[in-house]
Amino acid sequence: MNVKAILRTAVLTIAAASGAALPGVSPAADPDPVQRGAQLAAVGDCIVCHTAAGGAPFAGGLPIHTPFGTLYSTDITPDTKTGIGAWTLDAFVQAMRRGKSSDGHLLYPAFPYVHFTHMTDADIASVYAFMMSRTPVQATAAANKLIFPLNFRPLLAVWNLLYLHADTPEPMSRTQDPQLDRGRYLVDGLGHCAACHTPLNVFGAEKKDRTFDGAVIDGWDAPSLKTLLGASTPWTREQLSTYLRTGVASEHGAAAGPMLPVTRSLANASQADVEAMAAYIMSIQTPPPAAPAARVASGASLQQAGATMFEASCAACHAAHAPMNVVGGRPLLSLSTSVNSDSPRNLVRVMLDGLPAQGSKASVSMPPFAGMLTDAQIADLANYLRAQYSNRTPWQLQADDVAKYRKETPTP
Ligand code: HEC
Ligand code: HEC
Ligand code: HEC
Repeated sequence: MNVKAILRTAVLTIAAASGAALPGVSPAADPDPVQRGAQLAAVGDCIVCHTAAGGAPFAGGLPIHTPFGTLYSTDITPDTKTGIGAWTLDAFVQAMRRGKSSDGHLLYPAFPYVHFTHMTDADIASVYAFMMSRTPVQATAAANKLIFPLNFRPLLAVWNLLYLHADTPEPMSRTQDPQLDRGRYLVDGLGHCAACHTPLNVFGAEKKDRTFDGAVIDGWDAPSLKTLLGASTPWTREQLSTYLRTGVASEHGAAAGPMLPVTRSLANASQADVEAMAAYIMSIQTPPPAAPAARVASGASLQQAGATMFEASCAACHAAHAPMNVVGGRPLLSLSTSVNSDSPRNLVRVMLDGLPAQGSKASVSMPPFAGMLTDAQIADLANYLRAQYSNRTPWQLQADDVAKYRKETPTP
C-alpha cells in the first residue's frame, strides 16, 4: 500500500469513529487528521523517546535506561526498511494497543503502550496519519543490552497478561464536566504522566495503588502530582497549564531533567487539551499537609562556604538583580520547587546536569557543573540555597550524598 492509500484508510477510520461519543473525540473534530495527529503526538511525547541526541526526528536510537538494562527506541518514520513505512493502520493499532510489532514480536513496556492502549481508534488513526506524513529516514537502532531473562521477548506475554489492560478505551466513570473527562483521558492515556510520576514494582510495572504518588526517574524526583496544593505557593490550574506548555511556572520555577522535554513536546499540543490535562490534575489533589516544620539554622561557617560558591558560580544568572530575573522575568530561586522540596535530589541534579538551551531561546540555559564543582562544594551550595531561599526544614547534605546522586544517572 502506498502512503496516499494508507492516509486515506486513516481518514476513513477517523470519519467512521468520530460518530461515536467517546471522550477522546471532540464533536467538532479537526478536518485535517495530519495536523490533529501532530498535536496528539505532542501529547504522547513520541519525538522525545524516538529521537537520539543530534539525530533525525522520530528516527529512533535514543538509549532508554531501565533497571533491567538499556533499550534503544526504534525508527518510527515512514521508511519502509527500518521504519514503519510498510505498516498498515491495523498494525499500528496493534502496536499502540497491545505492544506488538508488525512482525508479531512483543515490544518492551518502556514504550508506554499500557497507557496508549486507552486511546480511541480515531486518535490512534490521527497519530498514524501524522507519522506517515513525516520524512522517511533509514536508521537501525543499536542492539538492546538487557539482562536475562528480559532479553527474551516472548516472556513479555506474561507481563502483558499481568499489567496490560487492553480493553479500550478505558471504561471511565464520566463526570458532568467534559473538560475533566477529556483531561483524564489524555493524562491516563496518550500523556502517560503516570509512567514517570508513579513508583514501579520489581517487574517495572506501575504500582496501581500508588498512582501519581511520585517516583525517582533517571536520578530525578518526579514529585507527587497529588500534593500540588502543598507547595509553598499552592499551584493553580492556570500555573499548571502554563508550566506544561512553556516549561516555566511563574510561582514554581522551571521544568528540568526528564520533565523538560515533556514540556517542550506539549508546547505543540492543542492549548485546549493541555488546559484539560491541567484541570484534571488539579481535580485529584489531596488537602495540603500541616505547616512545614520550623527551620533550624545550620552552621555559620558552612553557610559562608556556600555563599562564596554562589557568588562565584551562580550569581551572574541567579542573583535577584541579574538580567535573567530583571529583564527576562524568570522566577527567582526562592520559588523553585527544587529548593523547596523535601528531598535535595532535584537541586543537586540541576547543578550537575544544567539545563540545555531551548532552541530560539538560547539565552535561557544553564551550564552543567558536574565537571566544575566537587561533591563537597555542591553539598555546601545546596545547604546554602535551602537556608537562604526556603523556609522549610534545612538540609544537612554531605559530599557522600552528592556522590550517590552523581552515580545514579549515566553520563550522557
Ligand atoms: C517513553 C519512551 C517512548 C515514548 C514516549 C514513545 N515510545 Fe514508541 N517506543 C519506545 C521504545 C523504547 C520502543 C522499542 C521497544 C522495543 O524494541 O521493544 C518503541 C517502539 C515503538 C513502535 C514499534 C516500532 C517497531 O518497529 O516495532 C511504535 C509504532 C512506536 N513506538 C510508536 C510511538 C508513538 C506513535 C509514540 C507517541 C504517541 C511513541 N511511540 C512514544 C519508546 C517510546
Ligand atoms: C519522562 C518522565 C516524565 C513524564 C512523562 C512526565 N513527568 Fe512531570 N516531572 C518529571 C520530573 C523528573 C519532574 C521533576 C523535574 C522538575 O521539577 O524540574 C517533573 C515535574 C512535574 C511537575 C512539577 C511538580 C512540582 O511540584 O514542581 C508537574 C506539575 C508535572 N511534572 C506534571 C506532569 C504531567 C501533567 C505529565 C503528563 C502530561 C508529566 N508530568 C509527565 C518527569 C516526568
Ligand atoms: C549562565 C546562567 C546560569 C548559571 C551560571 C546558573 N544557572 Fe541555574 N538556571 C539558569 C537558567 C536559565 C535556569 C532556568 C530558569 C527558567 O527557565 O526560568 C536555571 C534554573 C535553575 C534552577 C531551577 C531549576 C528547577 O528545577 O526549578 C536552580 C535550582 C538553579 N538554576 C541553580 C543554580 C545554581 C545552584 C547555580 C550555580 C552552581 C546555577 N544555577 C548557575 C541559568 C544559570
